[in-house]
Amino acid sequence: MLRRHSTMKVGFIGTGSMGSILIDSLLRSGALRPEQITAANRTAAKVELLAEKHPGLQAARSNIEVVLEADLVFLCVKPVEFKRVIDEIRKVTLPSQVVVSITSPVLIQHLEEQLNCRIAKVIPSITNYMLGGATLCMYGERMDEEDKEALEALLSTISEPIRISESHTRITSDISSCGPAFFAHLLQKFIDSAVAETGIPYEQATKLASHMLLGTGKLLTEGGFSPEALQKRVAVPGGITAEGLRLMERELDGMFNRLIRITHAKYEEDLEKVGAMFLKPID
Ligand SMILES: NC(=O)c1ccc[n+]([C@@H]2O[C@H](COP(=O)([O-])OP(=O)(O)OC[C@H]3O[C@@H](n4cnc5c(N)ncnc54)[C@H](OP(=O)(O)O)[C@@H]3O)[C@@H](O)[C@H]2O)c1
Repeated sequence: MLRRHSTMKVGFIGTGSMGSILIDSLLRSGALRPEQITAANRTAAKVELLAEKHPGLQAARSNIEVVLEADLVFLCVKPVEFKRVIDEIRKVTLPSQVVVSITSPVLIQHLEEQLNCRIAKVIPSITNYMLGGATLCMYGERMDEEDKEALEALLSTISEPIRISESHTRITSDISSCGPAFFAHLLQKFIDSAVAETGIPYEQATKLASHMLLGTGKLLTEGGFSPEALQKRVAVPGGITAEGLRLMERELDGMFNRLIRITHAKYEEDLEKVGAMFLKPID
């Protein structure tokens, strides 16, 4: 059974963008103390920098050392690196340990076939850096309810953990993890047009737009509004917002359907590539 996070030892393999965001956020939220964390990265300088930033955090010299130290290990490497890491740690994982993949096209079934420990898949989001947004949680057969609760208690310090079905990995990741980039893109377009059409200073438009998005998020999460109700509330009949919404309805028609088809097509390609890697004989 996984220990509660106040005493848990947590390992990270890969301290690039997401690995370091998770470490920074879990420390900033107070969920973990640096002494509870051991991390390794292919380029050692990255993890050594993290150890300097968080005195007490152990920079391991190998991925095996991370596994030997931890109850719970986050694998934060790209899909193409996964098989190499699994081959390396396979001999040292224990049935009592929990290994968490944060990589969407690596299937739980593949990991359960390769490792003797308990397996979870968690898709974080850059929003977790601000101790917000969701983390998407999926579990293998060997995780019992107490393991799931202990992992979710840890993740709840930086996010809203939401259990999903693995068959919905792509669409839920599109919304939760790609969504910040998609909506930042829409915001960027809005800001650029505001500057071009009216001459408003760029910084002022950016500040207004960013606070608008934050307030909108709060209305949707804490304020009891659905997206539909919020539009109705702002767009009074015959008003200016209603005119703008009519234009958006025409111009955006089908755009998100096409976007979802594109992300799913890329995901299918990644699934095939990762699946082929796991079919190769065990080294
Ligand atoms: N970025 C996001 O918003 C996001 C959100 C959800 C999930 N994810 C998933 O998170 C995973 C990592 O993404 P990322 O953006 O963090 O990528 P990244 O910045 O490239 O980080 C990957 C890290 O893994 C290290 N690494 C590679 N092979 C290794 C090995 N054999 N042993 C130890 N460390 C190794 C790399 O080391 P080097 O320093 O040598 O390159 C690098 O620091 C991806 O699968 C991605 O899909 C990302």
